[in-house]
Amino acid sequence: MSTGDTADRSLQHWSESGRTGMEAFYALATEDYRQLALAADWPELLRERAHDGWSLLDVACGSGKFPTALRTHTDLSGVPAVAYDLLDPSAFSVREARGVLAPPFVPRHELVTTLQDLPAEHAGYDVVWAVHALYALPPEELDLAAERFVAALAPGGLGLVAQATASSHYLAFYDAFRAGVRDATPYSTAEQVRDALTRAGADVRDQRVTYRTGSGDRDVVEGFLQRCAFDDSVSLTEMEAAPVLGGYLASCRDADGRYDFDHEVSLLWL
Ligand SMILES: C[S@@+](CC[C@H](N)C(=O)[O-])C[C@H]1O[C@@H](n2cnc3c(N)ncnc32)[C@H](O)[C@@H]1O
Repeated sequence: MSTGDTADRSLQHWSESGRTGMEAFYALATEDYRQLALAADWPELLRERAHDGWSLLDVACGSGKFPTALRTHTDLSGVPAVAYDLLDPSAFSVREARGVLAPPFVPRHELVTTLQDLPAEHAGYDVVWAVHALYALPPEELDLAAERFVAALAPGGLGLVAQATASSHYLAFYDAFRAGVRDATPYSTAEQVRDALTRAGADVRDQRVTYRTGSGDRDVVEGFLQRCAFDDSVSLTEMEAAPVLGGYLASCRDADGRYDFDHEVSLLWL
């Protein structure tokens, strides 16, 4: 039964009926993936791990924006074909991501499950990544999720969790939304994920990336923010008038009404 809480609303929105909201979100959020594609020497990192029969697990694959950004912004022509497993509790997401995969990423298994419920036999991956993926995971389930993430990785494999920090837009916005519009379970932060991975026995390096995204188009901003909260029933005008949230949004707006959002993302390397 749906409780209407964060994890439920995430799952409801990652669906065919949520497609319009998803597309509105990516008018601004595509930049998140470009930043990550450019933050490391991905062709080299992947080539180093390649061997016959190598495999990759994409945790919370969403609609496949990260592999698409890698193919768009880096040269993967020297990376051998890799068996690419898609994990997401939303069957819609798995289908969307599968539809955009292209060489060197060769779709293999579809795992329609949460990370917390990933069966132990799915292990030995040369690469495991979770990119802007774990926000809706309830904080009390982070330890279990981190254990599953670490267990899925082969010894010497490459793990990456990319997640916004507590002060970054996605977290600051949702905290203000919860305080001013509707209470709910908070999003998990990069700091919480990093600590959970460390408790799970991983050696974690925290690389930070900062950037801004924005628009002067109120429709674009409204669609983006509604998806940030998984709530398309609240208009931008209502958000601006809400307690706490109104103050946060004013801090992101200039005199001409343009919005710019500040992002800080942790790349947690294992
Ligand atoms: C913003 S998308 C991730 C973006 C994606 N990595 C990409 O490259 O486009 C968030 C995804 O997390 C999934 N998700 C939510 N809770 C999850 C959980 N507990 N375990 C795994 N995936 C989860 C959602 O269903 C959604 O598809």
